[in-house]
Amino acid sequence: MNGERALDLVAGARPNFMKVAPILRVLGAGPLSPRLVHTGQHYDEGMSGVFFRDLGIAEPDVYLGVGSGSHGQQTARILAAYEEHLVRTRPAAAVVVGDVNSTMACTLAAVKLGIPVAHVEAGLRSFDRTMPEEINRLVTDTLADLLLVSEPAGEENLRREGIADGRIRYVGNVMIDTLVRELPGARALGVTERLGLPAGGFAYVTLHRPSNVDDPARLARLANLLGALGARLPVVFPVHPRTRERLRGTGLEGQLASAPGVLLLEPLGYRESLGLMAGARLVLTDSGGVQEETSYLGVPCLTLRPNTERPVTVSLGTNVVVGEEIERAWPLIEEVLAGRHKAGRPIPGWDGHAAERVAAALAERYGGQNRPAGPRDPG
Ligand code: UD1
Repeated sequence: MNGERALDLVAGARPNFMKVAPILRVLGAGPLSPRLVHTGQHYDEGMSGVFFRDLGIAEPDVYLGVGSGSHGQQTARILAAYEEHLVRTRPAAAVVVGDVNSTMACTLAAVKLGIPVAHVEAGLRSFDRTMPEEINRLVTDTLADLLLVSEPAGEENLRREGIADGRIRYVGNVMIDTLVRELPGARALGVTERLGLPAGGFAYVTLHRPSNVDDPARLARLANLLGALGARLPVVFPVHPRTRERLRGTGLEGQLASAPGVLLLEPLGYRESLGLMAGARLVLTDSGGVQEETSYLGVPCLTLRPNTERPVTVSLGTNVVVGEEIERAWPLIEEVLAGRHKAGRPIPGWDGHAAERVAAALAERYGGQNRPAGPRDPG
């Protein structure tokens, strides 16, 4: 235990790791001493281990090892295990990122013990409570003490929900810090060439949301879309474990694997994935992070969901939300292939320095001497 200025930084699932990496790096050089807590919500080499190596994150200080389960089981296991750790160590605050079950469960555990929580990526709302992440965001933001916001809509949503201005801070996007740092290395890997793909001439696909992959009829329509797209240009699809399980269960895995032009892969590491995204003509996704990354990269992105909690990727970035009807993707795909997709514009605070603003806000609120966070303009 590092005394009362020790700060927990919580990560649990794949999209958390690229968010904690830059915060850890900056905090490590400042007055607060960070302690990395990995809940073990994701535990596979491909979903966790490779990210630690790709992003240069040291072994977690604490590993809770909760594993998979239903939402109730998983949340309960994280809550109990993290509470036990908090009682023993009592950090000055817990910093949580994103919107996964670990984010919400650790928030609950901490606030019940009177330990303040800072939420990185606060205020995002899809206004769709059928999404597990929306429930996690609502609970986390209601209970958090310091709300660190990544895009303009975050501030508006929190104010509308009655959160006091003094607790909200626009810091920008820490995931873009990681992207900026890793992009040269990702390009140098040459994954596109290794897979024999034409530079700028393939589609990159990620799909894992329960709303897309858990319904066999919808999954079949998505598989048809990808099969037909493969006839137009190569389609690269690293398959999330949840999606792999569902494709197998519905017999669609074979159909998709044998579709001409479609390349199914195991989940990729951060750098390989970024290298492919940066070299793609088009990205099809239901991930939140990928909408942001493609916006920064200027790569056309079609989001296969009815909504997005990241509207700045649509207003300033390269993202278009396809909507409920999967087939509506076709005219949008044609636009991209004809070179008519909108170009993105810079987004405030998506500049590679968000973690510095996070660290300054944390030091100001929980101790230490970092200067207050800077202006919200891009650097
Ligand atoms: C979780 C997050 C989601 C995030 C996604 C990124 C919640 C509610 N959802 O969804 O917001 O976008 O991570 O991946 O927190 N599995 C493995 N190995 C692992 C982890 C999971 O094989 O290391 C398999 C298990 O069969 C598990 C399934 O994947 O049941 C789903 O994992 P889970 O953590 O429940 O949710 P995700 O769909 O990954």
